[in-house]
Amino acid sequence: MRLAFTIQKYNPEIDQHPHEEIYHLDVSPGLTILDALIRLKNEADGRLTFRYSCRSAICGSCAMEINGSEKLACRTSVRKEWERHGEIAVAPLKNLAVIKDLAVDMRSFWQKNRTIVPWLLSREGARLGAPGEGGWNDHGPVARERELLTPDPVAFHNVDACIQCGACVAACTSHEADRHFLGPAALAKAYRFVADTRESEDARSARLAALQEPAGIWDCTRCNFCVQVCPKDVQPMEAIIRLRRAAIERGLTKTGGARHVIGFRDLIAKYGRLNEALMPLKVIGVNFRHFLNVLPLGLRMLVKGKVPSPLHPGIQGVERVRAILERSGPRRDVSHLRPKVAGDTDG
Ligand code: SF4
Ligand code: SF4
Ligand code: FES
Repeated sequence: MRLAFTIQKYNPEIDQHPHEEIYHLDVSPGLTILDALIRLKNEADGRLTFRYSCRSAICGSCAMEINGSEKLACRTSVRKEWERHGEIAVAPLKNLAVIKDLAVDMRSFWQKNRTIVPWLLSREGARLGAPGEGGWNDHGPVARERELLTPDPVAFHNVDACIQCGACVAACTSHEADRHFLGPAALAKAYRFVADTRESEDARSARLAALQEPAGIWDCTRCNFCVQVCPKDVQPMEAIIRLRRAAIERGLTKTGGARHVIGFRDLIAKYGRLNEALMPLKVIGVNFRHFLNVLPLGLRMLVKGKVPSPLHPGIQGVERVRAILERSGPRRDVSHLRPKVAGDTDG
């Protein structure tokens, strides 16, 4: 079967804008997009530029946008794409500068990975593998073994499976809005170290304190795109949620994001439902300037009937909601939110 491939071309040295070129290729069963690109380069256009290495979904270098979604070209079937979309359109990863055609500049990606300090910060004064910690053998000092696995079997998640392809960053809505956002891959990697029992408590706290700064964990919009596109099921958004939880558990609660989580939980514990009228106050706290900023929006919502009375009563059976919250983990004690006189409703 002969198929058309629409490929975005762009050479910043001679082109003012990216443009599309259509190539035709006789395809056979089992052909991947990367196979097709290699053949097109050999048979039709030797200048066509793209990156690849392993051809086995290991090196992460062939990530690109295929029919509007971020994928590894070496494990994407031409046939399936054609059957699903009726066309084959290939473009570079979004939100990263194009070097040429399908090859993007990954420097910002690597820099963000460096920013999160991608190595283990061991217990106080002890470098991992430091000579002499584990005694001696015939060849000299050996490092003492350290337990790697955490008591929580899912604590590491799948973050070690990341092949640094950048697909999640290209798909990330927050990164699209703010290129400074650390991004799903770097934050997932940061979680890998936070979850490691060998990291010292001080280092873990310092790491979390840095990650809660602007462009960090609280800037994720939880759009879930990083989870959808990741070819290795790393689930970066889940890692970010765990980082947020870890930050709150360590008392890092000054950010708007942390206050939102705590305020949300407190309101649910108190009323059994969200109280939208009180939520902004929970997030803003006693900051009068911020309060004035959101006041016009609040008033408009009030006029449109979008804001319930801040005095509305709790739902029936709110005690059972509190019981669920208390059982959901040791995150935060909500017992103080119980009314002094036990009852099903609360004010
Ligand atoms: S869930 Fe968060 S990190 Fe993942 S793509 Fe969306 S905004 Fe980015
Ligand atoms: S988290 Fe997944 S999508 Fe993101 S860089 Fe790693 S492997 Fe690629
Ligand atoms: S070529 Fe290595 S992941 Fe595709």
